[in-house]
Amino acid sequence: MKPNDHTWDAFSALSVADKAAALAREDGSPFHTLFSQQFDRAGLDRLCRLATVIRTLAKTRKGSDFLQSLLPHRRAMLYFTQPSSRTYLSFLTACQILGLRTGGVRDTSTSSEFKGESQEDSIRTFSSYFDMIIMRTREKGLAEKMAFALSKSERPVPIINAGSGKDQHPTQALLDIYTLQRSFERRGGLRDRTVMFVGDLARGRTVRSLSQLLLNYDNITQIFAAPDPLQIGDDILAELRAAGAAHFTTSDMRSHLPATDAVYMTRIQDEWDTKSGDSADIDTSKYKITAAEMSLCKPDTILMHPLPRRDEIATEVDSDPRAMYWRQMRNGMWIRAALIATTFSCTTRILEYYENN
Ligand code: CP
Repeated sequence: MKPNDHTWDAFSALSVADKAAALAREDGSPFHTLFSQQFDRAGLDRLCRLATVIRTLAKTRKGSDFLQSLLPHRRAMLYFTQPSSRTYLSFLTACQILGLRTGGVRDTSTSSEFKGESQEDSIRTFSSYFDMIIMRTREKGLAEKMAFALSKSERPVPIINAGSGKDQHPTQALLDIYTLQRSFERRGGLRDRTVMFVGDLARGRTVRSLSQLLLNYDNITQIFAAPDPLQIGDDILAELRAAGAAHFTTSDMRSHLPATDAVYMTRIQDEWDTKSGDSADIDTSKYKITAAEMSLCKPDTILMHPLPRRDEIATEVDSDPRAMYWRQMRNGMWIRAALIATTFSCTTRILEYYENN
């Protein structure tokens, strides 16, 4: 079943697994990166290993020159119509590491969408000039819709979803997994761990995508700590149940801190409020981390946050060695470089160069 056998309405009604299969390459490997459900354990391990190799090579002039020699003939389009610092800049620098040239649109008021051009025509226009489109949008499902539209065109270039609506942020989940793997690699690996998600879980796409990726690891307990109106969606809970994954929801973050291996904080996503002040009426005072909360955690618990933060992690915690969020952010550049290299089939060249130098 390939996308050009379908109308968009029929395609959009497929399961995520069937959509991913329909949009895959001939050999079944991912062409686009749209959903976190596209990744299995073997693929995650390969990507994390490649990220570490790229990180190591980029430390020297010789290794950096080699990486930049890989893709100077490719161009990537950064189509970010929703605000971003980290994802935008880490993709930009990941492209630079691999020698890709980049161009971008960050505001539809500066592109011909402002003149009424459809999103489908805009994407076809971008694909005429670029070999990859990295896109962040406010609209849920737009990345897959554009991948579907391009699959019917003469230039079906790969699309990477850099955050879509409240639903998916698969590359954030990749960098989170990479951070978790690195943090636990000398302590038995990422298995038999408890991960607690805290904050606005109802509207946090990073939590939704990471929760899915964690299903690839053995014996991970997922705790969702939030006030009731901001609790994780029933669809995610249903997927965890179906996968047989240990999980529970709670409104009591503090009591679970001593047994948690990784605390994943998130901010209130009030950009999604339907009327001004919606979130401001919710009491979130119990969902903040200061030095006092850190004193309840184990000595080797790690504290993560996709960032940006507001006041949910006090700045006094930044100097705590368990605070992982700045390293987590930088990991984004390496894992995104690994993803782009994989998308353009450079993995073998990079690994061979690394082994021989
Ligand atoms: N974590 C994340 O997506 O950050 P930005 O919104 O700054 O890209």
